[in-house]
Amino acid sequence: MGKLATIICFVITFLLLGGIAVLIAWLADKMKSPMFSIDQANINGYNFTADNHLNATFILEVRSHNRDSKYQIKYDLIVVSVYHSGYTLAYDTTLGPFTQHHGDDIVFTARPRARNVLIRNPELAGDIRNEARAEKLGLEVHVRAAVRYEVARWKHKSYVLRIICTPVFVGLSSGKGSQSTICDVDRF
Ligand SMILES: *[C@@H]1O[C@H](CO)[C@@H](O)[C@H](O)[C@H]1NC(C)=O
Ligand SMILES: *[C@@H]1O[C@H](CO)[C@@H](O)[C@H](O)[C@H]1NC(C)=O
Repeated sequence: MGKLATIICFVITFLLLGGIAVLIAWLADKMKSPMFSIDQANINGYNFTADNHLNATFILEVRSHNRDSKYQIKYDLIVVSVYHSGYTLAYDTTLGPFTQHHGDDIVFTARPRARNVLIRNPELAGDIRNEARAEKLGLEVHVRAAVRYEVARWKHKSYVLRIICTPVFVGLSSGKGSQSTICDVDRF
């Protein structure tokens, strides 16, 4: 082999190894999921009729903390839904987009609204009535978010976050609101 061929061979090997090292570092780079909590939960305009039609606006203060020390998180799409006993009562799709720098908190208010929602399940209707009588509804809040982790524009990864917060107690009269509920966060 000539001297030039040796040098070219060396350079190619060097580039290949460098490329593999960068790829491994990239794959091994574990970003942390943000933490979520529901800090406050209230209800407005509650009306549940005798024929089981529900009107209510849930007012949920959602807090998110980016625990990652490197990545900023872009929330492109966020849906907040309110469940009771596995049934969806209301959802809010008007949220975001948000950008959250590493280490930062964001707080936003979701207002899922139930408008004339017919509750077909008699057991659920009974539960809602009993809880309303006690002025405290026990709900489950789900948050779905399409997010993008970014260090730089060229280094980013996209995920879906599935966030479940339970139990979230919503007071019907002011002063009976919830304490903060910490959520479970899954990323995929
Ligand atoms: C609840 O809804 C029913 C039917 O729409 C209405 O007649 C009633 O006045 C409402 N009650 C309240 C407290 O808004
Ligand atoms: C819910 O609100 C709508 C208007 O937004 C009204 O037409 C309907 O009668 C209300 N239903 C109840 C159960 O209050």
